[in-house]
Amino acid sequence: MSRSAHPAGPRHADVLTEGHYAAPPADLNVLDEKVWARTVSRNDDGAVTVGGIEVTRLAEEFGTPAYFLDESDFRARCRAWADAFGPGADVFYAGKAFLSRAVVRWLKEEGLNLDVCSGGELTTALDAGMPAERIAFHGNNKTVAEIERAVQVGVGRIVLDSFQEIVRVSHIAQRLGKRQRVQIRVTVGVEAHTHEFIATAHEDQKFGIALAGGQAAEAVRRALTLDGIELIGIHSHIGSQIFDMAGFEVSARRVVQLLAEVRDEHGVELPEIDLGGGLGIAYTSDDDPREPHEIAKALGDIVTRECEAAGLATPRISVEPGRAIVGPTAFTLYEVGTIKHLEGLRTYVSVDGGMSDNIRTALYDAEYSVALVSRRSDAEPMLVRVVGKHCESGDIVVKDAFLPSDLAPGDLIAVPATGAYCRSMASNYNHALRPPVVAVRDGEARVIVRRETEEDLLRLDVG
Ligand code: LLP
Repeated sequence: MSRSAHPAGPRHADVLTEGHYAAPPADLNVLDEKVWARTVSRNDDGAVTVGGIEVTRLAEEFGTPAYFLDESDFRARCRAWADAFGPGADVFYAGKAFLSRAVVRWLKEEGLNLDVCSGGELTTALDAGMPAERIAFHGNNKTVAEIERAVQVGVGRIVLDSFQEIVRVSHIAQRLGKRQRVQIRVTVGVEAHTHEFIATAHEDQKFGIALAGGQAAEAVRRALTLDGIELIGIHSHIGSQIFDMAGFEVSARRVVQLLAEVRDEHGVELPEIDLGGGLGIAYTSDDDPREPHEIAKALGDIVTRECEAAGLATPRISVEPGRAIVGPTAFTLYEVGTIKHLEGLRTYVSVDGGMSDNIRTALYDAEYSVALVSRRSDAEPMLVRVVGKHCESGDIVVKDAFLPSDLAPGDLIAVPATGAYCRSMASNYNHALRPPVVAVRDGEARVIVRRETEEDLLRLDVG
């Protein structure tokens, strides 16, 4: 991309010339449906609407910053995953991406199961009426109290993450007079990162039990001999924001190999495998995520083929998408405050939130898109960096993006695809008040997680 191709002029020419921000889109008013929730569109007056409601109205009623979640999109994605995998498989929504009681109810109604990884998530799930048998409990260091609670309420499965935990769960279940269904989480030796996957020193991570060196086989040996637990399968989660199915293919193949080894050694065919989550979504127009039916077919084909080759009956497959369900369904709405033009460098657009409501840019160098949503503008595009209001220069929301050059304080801008790992990783840094999550559906908006207040802050600060 040549410098002269920047309509914003030489002021921005030296900044960055690669990736999706190398050239502005033809029309900044057009919203790429890949990155926006399904009911988002721009109306004739130029304002963006979600679920039929203008964002300007939403900002007046709920304030900014705030996350707006398209409930019908969320439900449609749940159904798409459930339909794609069909009755012979199980879809567990990964609650860590975003969990609230409303979300639990939607999941329940749409026929999904739920993966939780802490006592807090378990409480939320149970409180909102998710049947315990539809819950999977994860984590590399579940506390004794968490395990006791999970066993006591009868979660559908506990995913065992270490040798110690195999014994721990067995003891707890025996003490409580229960037999707990468990899976063993294995690390298969592939680590997937966005577009690529790389073979890795798989023992060098905190999760799971390595297939390498026969450790996973040894874990199975122990689990099969201990009382109080019933080993129902093997679990593998290879990473996050993955587009390439090759990593899943390797993972599925290695898990099936383990099932064959278990059959040969113990005469037992474990009935289930879980291939985890990690399916990528579009954060920018450059990303091309796969549809659930493509993923289901690819995974199903691999497992069937590998099982046939090994002479095994095909096990029941489960998956745990978090980001792929909730990520695209929400956007964060901000009000523009300060705008600072640095001649020859870049333009900083400061918003009323930041790393406290979206830590992903600072933490993972994540890329996001952004759009002016309170009005239409035909002004020239300007390359900007959207930053927050926190006392830290790494407080970046969108590293590089184009916004209209007539952007002014008071305008509303929105960052799409913030449904996953934004509210759930939000913090009170600088005593920021965590934003609300507002569900929008068919012309109605309701708060499902309210905004924090200064009273909330002071209530925890017991003086
Ligand atoms: N299952 C297991 C066992 C997991 O550890 C995870 C995510 C998932 C399922 C769901 O993965 P998903 O489909 O949402 O990618 N905070 C990071 C993501 C951490 C994911 C941790 N485990 C981020 O913001 O990208």
